[in-house]
Amino acid sequence: SDDFIVAVDGPAGAGKGTVAKRLATAYGLAHLESGLLYRAAGLLSLRRGIPFDQDGRVAQLCETITLDDLAYPELRSDQAAQAASCISVHPSVRAALLDLQRRFAHFPPDGCRGTIIDGRDIGTVVCPEAPLKFFVDARVDVRAKRRHQEFVGKEMGMPFEEVLEDMKQRDKRDRERAEAPLVAAHDAVVVDTSDMTIDQAVDAVATHVDAFL
Ligand code: C5P
Repeated sequence: SDDFIVAVDGPAGAGKGTVAKRLATAYGLAHLESGLLYRAAGLLSLRRGIPFDQDGRVAQLCETITLDDLAYPELRSDQAAQAASCISVHPSVRAALLDLQRRFAHFPPDGCRGTIIDGRDIGTVVCPEAPLKFFVDARVDVRAKRRHQEFVGKEMGMPFEEVLEDMKQRDKRDRERAEAPLVAAHDAVVVDTSDMTIDQAVDAVATHVDAFL
């Protein structure tokens, strides 16, 4: 298909979410943060008392998730992030969330010229046909520092060491899982934002989008 789909993958704190949001505005694309789907599934599981290893029941929950469930601030908590990374290892859970993501990718709302989806496996599994793929990365210490700064002044504040440890754990789970591990697609443009400001990261990615258009 010649749908205009931009896949932006990478670990937490590398800047992919912000880059995707800014590009969506700049180019008139509909934006989906796929991590929110896994966060919603993780939080729902916690609330219903479903253990993370009961993948059949978690997958059933996933079938009920819609785009309307993604607007809640609780989804941004560290608890939701950890729950997401625990339930996202299961193939049946990932499969249950595929349709929604692919429909979003191929059927943008009226007025959008295409879609941009950020996550871990968009360029490799969800939309391998995407004509534009980015893998946004950064050193783990830099990513933890950014995440820690976001928390400062908010009630969910955590000590830096804890943020770093959680991030390392989540990275490890995401990279080492058998199903759809976090890895750059062979045809993705890799952008390391460790020494970039967010504006520089957006510019670096936008240059490739411009060249494509
Ligand atoms: O992107 P975000 O940090 O919100 O993602 C939360 C968790 O959801 C990730 O650590 C990962 O385990 C899972 N996830 C995934 N595949 C995606 C997006 C997120 O497995 N496409």
